[in-house]
Amino acid sequence: MISNLITQGINGIPKIPGDKSISHRSIIIPSIANGICEIKNILKSDDVLHTLNAFRAMGVKILENESKIIIYGNGLDSLKKPKNSIYLGNSGTSARLLTGLLSSQNFTSILTGDKSLSSRPMERIADPLTKMNAKISTTNGSLPLTIISSNLKPANIDLKIPSAQIKSGLLLAALNTNGETSITEHKITRDHTEIMLKSFGADIEVKKTDNKKLIKIYGKKELFPKNIDVPNDLSSSAFFIVSALINNNSNIILKNINNNSTRNGIILALKKMGARIKLLNKRINNNENVCDMEVSSSNLQGCEFGPEYADLMIDEYPILSIAASFANSPSVFHGLKELRVKESDRLKLIILNLQNCGVNCKSENNDLYIYPSKNYKIKKNTIQTDFDHRIAMAFCVMGTKIGPLKIKDSECINTSFPTFKDELNKLGGNIFWKKLL
Ligand code: S3P
Repeated sequence: MISNLITQGINGIPKIPGDKSISHRSIIIPSIANGICEIKNILKSDDVLHTLNAFRAMGVKILENESKIIIYGNGLDSLKKPKNSIYLGNSGTSARLLTGLLSSQNFTSILTGDKSLSSRPMERIADPLTKMNAKISTTNGSLPLTIISSNLKPANIDLKIPSAQIKSGLLLAALNTNGETSITEHKITRDHTEIMLKSFGADIEVKKTDNKKLIKIYGKKELFPKNIDVPNDLSSSAFFIVSALINNNSNIILKNINNNSTRNGIILALKKMGARIKLLNKRINNNENVCDMEVSSSNLQGCEFGPEYADLMIDEYPILSIAASFANSPSVFHGLKELRVKESDRLKLIILNLQNCGVNCKSENNDLYIYPSKNYKIKKNTIQTDFDHRIAMAFCVMGTKIGPLKIKDSECINTSFPTFKDELNKLGGNIFWKKLL
């Protein structure tokens, strides 16, 4: 458990770790490329290490030093049957992407996870893969999941649930399947997999129209090796951005942040609320948009955000809810159904914990309403996280403004941001470890 106290301001240049989504893909894709890839700035958090260990268990040589990892890929068909089942901890991204990739391999594999991951829906990836002839059996729709080796055939798949994890799992399955698979998306989801596959020479074509995106991939084309420099994570940055916005006397600089337009809804949303965020030195790195950011204390206004924002910032609602709690008028966020099936039921925990902090808020039909006030009277100062890293970090930020709060099971932060506490403290946060009473 960690606790924190009110801060006098958040100032400085935090070291934000590498992007989690791009880090997973920077292990998976080089592991099936043909040759040696060097990956710099990879995120070394629990989730990503589960992906890395999975590929080591499937015979891929991966060397690590301080500044980079080196992956020796041997091609699309080179993975070996692991000796044991593959344990993926808390990582939904590893589970969905590996289910796709492993369904095209010539061995049977079993995926397992922790309590939270073992209750998350897996039919959403298993069902569309079945259209490609994959043979997958789940445990009541979740992990443990068995993927039985079978000959995949190409298919035309309409994505029913907007999810980059499902799309990416299908693309990885199609990569090792003879013929053309097409995937139609009706809503935007993050496109890191398409970007990286293209840069590794995959035969992939993306066509966008006003209301949909068609991705065609021709399988069995070997990938060539490429070095990657992972940009820093915008989702992790969001905790620092909101800390600086809601606390007086704050000014921070964030460097080399991924600013992919399928991902940057949090910046658009906060700017709409009146946030003072400057995007500096916009550039392209490994085909991803990257920039630096300067963020200063701001007077935020409440706003209404439609479901289209959810597509662009699904992971950021816990921290956006904290920002909205310090705005000068109410906010409403629409279309948050997917929040219910993340690392926890995030909609439930946002409301429970905000209410315990004294914030008036409610959900109706998966929309979230927040009515901020000038002073909060804490009703219960222990934050329930259900081991969800983003809930834990969001309420650490809440604590910088109204603390002391105690964040239960805060070790879950290691899922995505092991250095979070130290970085926030360097900037003026007041977080300290507190043993459970
Ligand atoms: C991710 C996609 C999102 C996101 C998750 C990471 C990815 O999940 O919530 O943290 O790396 O593809 P969905 O695709 O299920 O929305």
